[in-house]
Amino acid sequence: MESKRLAGEKAAEFVKDGMVVGLGTGSTVYYTIMKLAERMKQGLVFKGVPTSVETEKIAARLGIPLISKGEINKIDLGIDGADAIDPDFVLIKGGGGALLREKIVAEAADQFIVVADPGKFVPNLADVEIPVEVIPFASELTEKHLKSLGCHTKLRVNNNTAFITDNGNYILDCKFEEIKNPKELETQILRIPGVAENGLFTDMANKIITLNALGEVVILA
Ligand code: A5P
Repeated sequence: MESKRLAGEKAAEFVKDGMVVGLGTGSTVYYTIMKLAERMKQGLVFKGVPTSVETEKIAARLGIPLISKGEINKIDLGIDGADAIDPDFVLIKGGGGALLREKIVAEAADQFIVVADPGKFVPNLADVEIPVEVIPFASELTEKHLKSLGCHTKLRVNNNTAFITDNGNYILDCKFEEIKNPKELETQILRIPGVAENGLFTDMANKIITLNALGEVVILA
């Protein structure tokens, strides 16, 4: 989609020589990664931290140097997509199932830029399911705890079998009737034993690159 390409490519301009860059997952940040590979050929020097096996494969194919697992310390800039963005820039992520590594990288990054087509903006986060990554051990119990927070849960499936994340976990997509305090909900979900991470990203986005009604790239901060 053209709007994803324009937003994604713009973010690549923020990468400077010597940076360690968190490379997000999805069809928008894909264009950032492609642009970065192009800039690399013109002399840009940087290293990537991929947030998923999918992104790792894309980056490796393009010859982008990656930091190995276990050696990830400082991340200068993270760039990633989002599934939903509310008026306070709270994000819901994890539509692609990569939320756990995405949150580790977003949290660690000095700056976090979100790239999103205008369709990702929602007035109310409760319109969107929150993906929650849960450890398979006693996942029924974890699901029961999640339901007690007032949501409907749905095990994510792929080809009639449970979807398995890059970390060997399940995803429960959780639909709340209303979300009054996203920060509090993010913490409440995390407190449940068996939850590895959830797709609410509060207080993380420093900039959002998207398009306005005229189709021009805009940077919201
Ligand atoms: C991956 O788990 C998600 O968090 C993605 O970042 C999100 O789904 C954005 O994807 P698109 O850029 O493909 O819309």
